[in-house]
Amino acid sequence: MTAPIAHFNGKLLPIDQISISPLDRGFIFGDGVYEVIPVYGGVPLRAREHFERLQRSMDEIRLDNPHTVDAWMKLTEELLRHHPGDQAVYIQVTRGAPPKRDHVIPKGLQPTVFMMANPMATPSPEAVENGVACVTARDFRWEKCHVKSTSLLGNVLARQISADAGATETILFRDGKLTEASSSNVFVVKNGVVAAPPRDNLILMGITYDLVTQLAGDGAVKLEQRAVTEAEVRSADEIWLSSSTKEVLAVTTLDGKPVGTGKPGSLFKRMHQLYQEHKAKLPKARKVAA
Ligand code: PDD
Repeated sequence: MTAPIAHFNGKLLPIDQISISPLDRGFIFGDGVYEVIPVYGGVPLRAREHFERLQRSMDEIRLDNPHTVDAWMKLTEELLRHHPGDQAVYIQVTRGAPPKRDHVIPKGLQPTVFMMANPMATPSPEAVENGVACVTARDFRWEKCHVKSTSLLGNVLARQISADAGATETILFRDGKLTEASSSNVFVVKNGVVAAPPRDNLILMGITYDLVTQLAGDGAVKLEQRAVTEAEVRSADEIWLSSSTKEVLAVTTLDGKPVGTGKPGSLFKRMHQLYQEHKAKLPKARKVAA
C-alpha cells in the first residue's frame, strides 16, 4: 500500500518520503504553530477562519506567514484531491531549520510547512447519545494559550490525566476559574443559560466556540461569554465540550459524579441539532479526481 499523500514545503509527496532536519526548530524547541480543519464530504468547515487564526498565531510568535489565506485555501484543496470524504486537515508551520541550536530567533529562515489529512473521527453515536466522562485538573500551562502552538506538552500531560482515568477530556481551572480542556473548549449551562469563558489569552479561541456562539444566537439560545467559576462548573446542569473534531459533545460525568441528570441535557440536544443542520447546509464538494 502506498503511503498517504501529504504536503511538504510546496510539494505533494507520500508521507513516508518526507524528511525533516533534526535542527528544525519545531523539533528542537516546539517552535511552531498549527491548525486542524474539519472537512465534511470534501468541503472544509470554516477554513478561512482557521487560516486567519493561523495568521494570528504566527503574528504572536513573530513568524512570517509563507502564504496568504487564499493560497492556504488552494493548498488545502490540492491536498484534499487525494483525500476524499470526511477528513481532518492538519497544518503545521515551524520556524525552519537553522545551522545550529540557539534560542534566539534567527533572521531570514525559511519556515517548514507540513500538511496532512486523516479520516475524521467525529464522536460515536453512543458518545453523542450518552455523553462522555471528564475529569478536572489545575491548568498548569503557560499564559499564551490563545496561540495554537505545537509546544503542546502542557496539553499532552493534561490529556493524559483523563486518559489514565478512562475519561474523554481533562477540564482545567486556573485560579478558581474555568479555562478550557486539554484540546477542547468548555461551555456550562445553568437554568437555561449557556456560559463560556471569555476570549482571552488563557484559552484557545476555538473556531467551534465561535460557531456554537453564532448558532446559539441564531437558535435563540441565551449564551454569555464571561468568567465561569469552578463552583459553577461543579454545579452545572449541563457541560459541553467543543472542538473541530469533537463538534459539540455533552459531558455527563465530572470526576466520577453525574452532571445534572447524568444524561445529555435539552440545550445540548438543541445545540447538537443546530450544529448538524449547519453542517448539512455546507456546499457540496465539486467532483475531483484523486
Ligand atoms: N484542538 N482548546 C484547545 C487547547 C484545543 O487544542 C482545541 C482544538 C480547541 C478547540 O478549537 P477548535 O474549535 O478551533 O478546534 C480548544 C485541535 C482539534 C487539536 O489540537 O487536535
